[in-house]
Amino acid sequence: MMDIVSRMMMPLVRRLDPEDAHRLALNALLLGLGGGDGSGGDDPALAVRAMGLRFANPIGIAAGFDKNALVVRPLARAGFGFVEAGTVTPRSQAGNPRPRLFRLEEDRAIINRMGFNNQGIDRFAVRMARLHRVAPSGRHAGARVPVGANLGINKVGADPDRDYPLLVGRVKHYADYIVINLSSPNTPGLRDLQNAARLQTLLQAIAEAHPDRPPLLVKLSPDLAPDEIGPIVEAAIAGGAQGLTVTNTTISRPADLRSVHAGESGGLSGRPLRARAMEVFREVARAASGRLTLVACGGIETGADIVDRIRAGADLIQLYSAFAYEGPSILRRLKRETVRALNAEGFETLADAKGTAR
Ligand SMILES: Cc1cc2nc3c(=O)[nH]c(=O)nc-3n(C[C@H](O)[C@H](O)[C@H](O)COP(=O)(O)O)c2cc1C
Repeated sequence: MMDIVSRMMMPLVRRLDPEDAHRLALNALLLGLGGGDGSGGDDPALAVRAMGLRFANPIGIAAGFDKNALVVRPLARAGFGFVEAGTVTPRSQAGNPRPRLFRLEEDRAIINRMGFNNQGIDRFAVRMARLHRVAPSGRHAGARVPVGANLGINKVGADPDRDYPLLVGRVKHYADYIVINLSSPNTPGLRDLQNAARLQTLLQAIAEAHPDRPPLLVKLSPDLAPDEIGPIVEAAIAGGAQGLTVTNTTISRPADLRSVHAGESGGLSGRPLRARAMEVFREVARAASGRLTLVACGGIETGADIVDRIRAGADLIQLYSAFAYEGPSILRRLKRETVRALNAEGFETLADAKGTAR
């Protein structure tokens, strides 16, 4: 079934306006067309333990694909090892005017300036709560994988020290982990919250309001200067965060982009982000030296990319753009390639490989 979706639908989907294509993809997932990955369970070599949670494989769907927590279960069924829903903001908001999503086909990249279009925390929290509903048989209905909630602030009327604690309170009983998104380039002022002193106050406000929260991660930009990274890592630890997600999209534009859309404003993701995301990840991993859970993201599209990030110190990885281009069949490919890449580099399991090239 998944091959039907990937082989027949993806070429059609790619001809649509990108935002219509995204809506179609969500509907296909809702209808059960995301299928299963056909693996009949993941290779035990791919299992990960992180943040006190078990992951059957390390591959997560990055934030932004399922902003409203509509297709968490179908994404898990398609073979993701975890799902991060959001970014969700306190109030619903429309986001930026369309067009705001561009496929850079020749570059295998995406530029987006969506601007946190989402239905708001009330509807999000109801859907997250429903994921915990127990079927009459006494078992959870559908696939169970760790689910994260990615939180952000509204464009208008935001007060981060009030809003992030409020959002954490609304999801803390339903999310397996929480991400504070401080790195979208499409909400004015958001990335300033990555300043180390500012970050520590924000994390303290959350810690005071919610000492009982699930593991908390901070999602960082690939556009941080090298000298900012050490202080941010220390502030995250001092503020009680469990981990970092590295990275979000970049506002930089590599000189070799070929697509006509390369000049659009917004965040760039996909293949041209890979080198920069990897470089920033390495610096973060060195600074953290084993003290934080690290989720690597940005330009990941092969099993070799996954093993590279794990060897550089990642616990888990996420992708968005490669999934948007390839569809659900990418999961089976990535898992097969990851096991092969591990073996080729002389490792049996991801756990053996972790941090060996930090
Ligand atoms: C269309 C689109 C929307 C996104 N929305 C969000 C978002 O709401 N919150 C967030 O933290 N990241 C968002 N991202 C960033 C991704 O989660 C990810 O960090 C980035 O795309 C790099 O990964 P990739 O190269 O595999 O796409 C978005 C990315 C894209 C392409």
